[in-house]
Amino acid sequence: MRRRDRPRPQAFLTPAGLFYCVPQRLPARPRSLRGLGALFEYGKQLVDRKRREPGDDVITRLCATEGVSDDEAAMLSMALLFAGHETAVVQIGLAVAHLLARPDQWQALVDDPDLMPAAVEELLRVPGQGGGGIPRYARTDLDIAGVTVHAGDLVLLDIGAANHDPAAYPDPDALDIARGTTRHLAFGHGSRYCIGAPLARIELQTTLELLTARFPTLRLAVPPAG
Ligand code: HEM
Repeated sequence: MRRRDRPRPQAFLTPAGLFYCVPQRLPARPRSLRGLGALFEYGKQLVDRKRREPGDDVITRLCATEGVSDDEAAMLSMALLFAGHETAVVQIGLAVAHLLARPDQWQALVDDPDLMPAAVEELLRVPGQGGGGIPRYARTDLDIAGVTVHAGDLVLLDIGAANHDPAAYPDPDALDIARGTTRHLAFGHGSRYCIGAPLARIELQTTLELLTARFPTLRLAVPPAG
C-alpha cells in the first residue's frame, strides 16, 4: 500500500476491535460500531481509487475478480487489514510487556538470540489468559469431556484457556522462553487457522530481534501489575 493510501489505523481500527474484545461491555458498543463503519468507508474509498488507478496489490486483484462486488472487495480487504494489523500490534505490545516483566527472560534473550523462535511461540501462548471465545455452531451432536453439545448449539472456543491448560503446560501462567512450546492455539486450529500466522511470526521475531539488539538494557518504568 502506498504511503498516501495508508490509513491512520488506530483512529478506527482500535474502536472497531472493541466489537470483538468487549462485546459484553455495552457502553463501548456504539464506539465500536462507529469504528467498524469508518473502517468500511475507508475500504470503499480505497476500492474506488483502485478501480480508477489499478496497481499490483490485493485490492486491485479483488476488484478484478468476477463476481466480487465493490462492497465485498471493501469488506474483504478491510477484514484482512483488521485481522492482520490490530492483532499483530496488540501481540507485539503484550510480548514486550511480558518479557520485560521477567527481566531474567529478557536477559536470556539478549544473551542468546538463538532462543528467539522458541520465545516467539511462548510469547504467543502466554498473554491471553482466557475469558473470551470464538463463536462456532455445532454441526452435529458431540460429546466433549462428558458434556453433550447438540447440533446447532453455540459453542465458545476459548483459545486463551486452552493455552493455559495445566494438563498441557506445567505452571501454565509462567513465561518460560525455553519451554519449547509448539502446539499452542494462538492462531486457532483447523480450517479457519490464521492465514497470516507466518507473517505474524516474522513481525514478532523481527521486532524482538531489533529491540533486544538495540536496547538490551530496556526496563519497565513501573513494576508489573499483579
Ligand atoms: C499475532 C498476530 C495474530 C494472531 C494472534 C491471530 C489470530 C488468529 C486466530 C485465532 C484466527 C482464527 C479465528 C477463528 O478460528 O475464527 C485467525 C484467523 C485469521 N487471521 Fe489471524 N492472527 C494474527 C495475525 C494475522 C495477520 C498478520 C493476518 C493477515 C495479514 C491475519 C489474517 C487472518 C485471517 C484472514 C483469518 C481468517 C482465516 C479464515 O477464517 O479462514 N492474522 N487469526
